[in-house]
Amino acid sequence: MYRTHTCGELRASHAGQTVTLSGWVHNFRTFGGVVFLVLRDRYGITQIVTKPEAFADAHKAIESARSEWVIQVEGLVKMRPADQFNPKMATGEIELEAQKVTVLNQSKSTPIVVSRDEDENEDIRLKYRYLDLRRERMTRNLVLRHRVVKFMRDFMDERGFIEVETPILFKATPEGARDYLVPSRIHPGHFYALPQSPQQLKQLLMVAGQDRYFQIARCFRDEDLRGDRQPEFTQLDLEMSFVQRDDVLALVERLYTEMLAAVAPHKKLFASPWPKFSHHEVVEKYGTDKPDLRFGMELVDVSDIFAKSEFKVFKSALEAGGTVKCIVAAGGAEMTRKEVDALTDAAKSLGAKGLATLAATAEGPKGTAAKFVTPEELEAVQSRVGAKVGDLILFAADARAVVNKVLGGLRVVLRDKLNLADKDVMAFAWVVDFPMFAWNEEEQRWDAEHHPFTMPQLSDLDKFETDPGSILSDAYDMVCNGYEMASGSIRIHRRDIQFKVFQLLGLKDEEIHSKFGHMLEAFEYGAPPHGGMAPGIDRLIMLLADEPNIREVIAFPKNQNGRDVMADAPSTVEPKQLKELHIKLE
Ligand code: AMO
Ligand code: AMP
Repeated sequence: MYRTHTCGELRASHAGQTVTLSGWVHNFRTFGGVVFLVLRDRYGITQIVTKPEAFADAHKAIESARSEWVIQVEGLVKMRPADQFNPKMATGEIELEAQKVTVLNQSKSTPIVVSRDEDENEDIRLKYRYLDLRRERMTRNLVLRHRVVKFMRDFMDERGFIEVETPILFKATPEGARDYLVPSRIHPGHFYALPQSPQQLKQLLMVAGQDRYFQIARCFRDEDLRGDRQPEFTQLDLEMSFVQRDDVLALVERLYTEMLAAVAPHKKLFASPWPKFSHHEVVEKYGTDKPDLRFGMELVDVSDIFAKSEFKVFKSALEAGGTVKCIVAAGGAEMTRKEVDALTDAAKSLGAKGLATLAATAEGPKGTAAKFVTPEELEAVQSRVGAKVGDLILFAADARAVVNKVLGGLRVVLRDKLNLADKDVMAFAWVVDFPMFAWNEEEQRWDAEHHPFTMPQLSDLDKFETDPGSILSDAYDMVCNGYEMASGSIRIHRRDIQFKVFQLLGLKDEEIHSKFGHMLEAFEYGAPPHGGMAPGIDRLIMLLADEPNIREVIAFPKNQNGRDVMADAPSTVEPKQLKELHIKLE
């Protein structure tokens, strides 16, 4: 028997028992001939002591042990003297007096020190991920992830959902990224595509009468990586038949609300029920479709106040059909010139031509717009935005979309600078009524704003010919603390509408049939009305674990350049393999 207990288990109540532990040497120190060694496993750490005179062999073995050796210790659980209790350790009231020690395996000196949470270069951590994962923080994240997924599975099961696995070797399912392709050996020149999501398959499961489906599903997207984006990631993918939008939202809102209480009770919901915004409303108020609602600082339109302004910045924007909007940084009037310049640079990198400011001070207005603004305009702005002495008002004047993007971005910069958001608040919200299509300026065609299987709002069907840009869809997003957490929609279940959407997206008839013929055909055999959603699991765990990016909550992530630096993938392959796959490298 390797062990009777784990390293996180022993308490005062075990004192006097003889037990066996197995684990890794976390650290050790010698003090007046006595060795204190801390033994670690996934469950925690326990202090082991040996004295030279008591059990000489055990003492010698412990003395020879080095960090990360794997050892087995049999001994007596003893209370520590009261003045040596360690309240930071769950096992801090006891120690184990070693009587027999067996070295199960040795370790070379490790490239990262497991017992220290040092901020090494991330690639070193990822190269030796199996050492990094020994750390408490990483273990905590993996366990939390497991608990969340387990909660999801149980919750869905209780409500009649069944988990169905869908293929990884499939055909392109567009979600707006590039596909990963897998060449076929048996069919020269033919490729599978890894699914960007199980979107088509879950819809086909609805056509198949399965009514309520879910899957902890891996998705693959070849796109530029960011802190909240990995080339493969996991969704709680779900789909339901005979539902409308609010049925889906209610289910997921309930799941997340109950899950939070069960797995992360220290996290508080910002509001319950969750707020619901139209896409238009949220963009106008927060400058983005994934707002952080934990703080106010809403965008306020002041175009009307400056309609007759002589300030050329405002005047020229308004004359060109644009807008003037502003946000208020409470207490921001104190900011130094340098700080305001940094905000201006941030605004410029978001696409602004500049940033006009008005600081409300006891001596009157200061800032770059102060000398261009009349007392009446100043009065009107201050009363509309509720600015007090000490506040800083930041203005953007430009085309509406630019203004929203700039001020929405500055909101986030100011949030971090002024510490406006509580990390323990989860501000979940719904965004609904998205536009169905977005104009792709570069390629001069329409793109699906969500994906092409999303149902346009039926009242907008007649706008396909006249004004596609104004068609709204039955799509919805879940957002939280500035992240998009989930997307979903009610789906098209009629062949004629699906065909129309593909056509509007610029697909030729032959293309529609070769890429999506199976979907169109399925819709001709009694497809039920259906809809669903896919919350991203990595981003959720990242927020629950207070981690800065999703790599910290994925056991074996790719690095920021999309490489697995542990296994060194992607890598070259044998010429023979390429030949079998009918591939010649350029
Ligand atoms: P969508 O493409 O919006 O929708 O993805 C849904 C959610 O998945 C997460 N996510 C990601 N997480 C990590 N890395 C990525 N590269 C990544 N891309 C997306 C986000 C996002 O909100 N089939 C549809 C859903 C549906 O309509 O039911 C879909 O995949 O949290
Ligand atoms: P200028 O007259 O160009 O020096 O601009 C006066 C002030 O307005 C400066 O603080 C600029 O940064 C700012 N500004 C310039 N363009 C814009 C714009 N489009 N929106 C808001 N402020 C601007």
